Amino acid sequence: MEGTFERPLEFELADKLEASRDLTDDEFAAVLLCDYPGFDEYLAGKARAVREKYYGKSVYLRGLVEISNICRNNCYYCGIRRDNANAERYRLSEEQILSCCDAGYDLGFRTFVLQGGEDPYYTDELIVSIVSAIKERHPDCAVTLSLGEFEKESYQKFFDAGADRYLLRHETADKDHYEMLHPAEMSFDHRMQCLRDLKDIGYQVGCGMMVGSPYQTTEHLVKDLRFLQEFKPEMVGIGPFIPHHDTCFADREAGTVDMTIRLLSVIRLLLPDVLLPATTALGTIDPRGREKGILAGANVVMPNLSPSDVRGKYLLYDNKICTGDEAAECIRCMAMRISSVGYETVVSRGDHAAFSIK
Ligand code: 5AD
Ligand code: FES
Repeated sequence: MEGTFERPLEFELADKLEASRDLTDDEFAAVLLCDYPGFDEYLAGKARAVREKYYGKSVYLRGLVEISNICRNNCYYCGIRRDNANAERYRLSEEQILSCCDAGYDLGFRTFVLQGGEDPYYTDELIVSIVSAIKERHPDCAVTLSLGEFEKESYQKFFDAGADRYLLRHETADKDHYEMLHPAEMSFDHRMQCLRDLKDIGYQVGCGMMVGSPYQTTEHLVKDLRFLQEFKPEMVGIGPFIPHHDTCFADREAGTVDMTIRLLSVIRLLLPDVLLPATTALGTIDPRGREKGILAGANVVMPNLSPSDVRGKYLLYDNKICTGDEAAECIRCMAMRISSVGYETVVSRGDHAAFSIK
């Protein structure tokens, strides 16, 4: 027809994803692979509209406390893997963790994320004691744990002590791919069991994957999307894989900012009210990565509250940002970045819609 031109099919697929929150596997793959000019902006525009419908212009802040870089696991990609003899190890005491949270509270944080390697020093009893103490001092705050795999009984104890949320990335929804990223002693089935247990107990659960991890194919990413659709997590943490020089994957290519952003938009359209962080890894591969993430549908950021003397040691990958700044500095910087793209940081627990306390 004169005067009109056909839009590429992928634009129709973006419309279909927005309207039906679903695509076939082949359609998801086509959306992930499309390199037609303007497609990224089209998809991000839709994702932004959906995020604004549910969350307005708010970006939720979570204060991240990296409690230990000691880990019994040996994931091939991770800089704090057990076999990395060059990692300078540290762990924070209960008192240190509590004083980080107190300082974070005074800075305006109402969610604390305690993240660490699987460090046996933190027994169930110690974690229960830390969680109870934070909740006692700051009853208006949410406590999120990101401490790896435990048995259901332990997760239950942490929940009973007051933990609200748990982040455990599934890393990849494909068992064979999982086994290419982890040694035989680690189990895909156990990781998935952990995620189900967390959900059963009543946590708000976050899962997620690395983008561009070694051996990852488009089919794997489609499987990840399918998994997210079925599991319905309250949060999805994704970031590019970035090689760490002291790991098995030192010479691998990093994931790309473009694919990470594309996935953020797709996930926003798939799970409209999900909590979606613009991660530190995204800010590491591109100086404006987190801003681009916000503009593609992300609505959470996690400034670092760890004590400055240990920050430079929690290095899962090379060139990590925010390792030298004081917490207050990091928050100021983050708030500026967010307002530079027309959004605003909010101090609230920022619960997932299904859990929000009115
Ligand atoms: N690059 C990017 N992300 C990584 N993680 C671990 N190692 C790397 C890396 N080299 C991510 C994993 C883990 C989370 C805490 O950090 O997805 O679950
Ligand atoms: Fe941490 Fe900029 S966000 S220093």
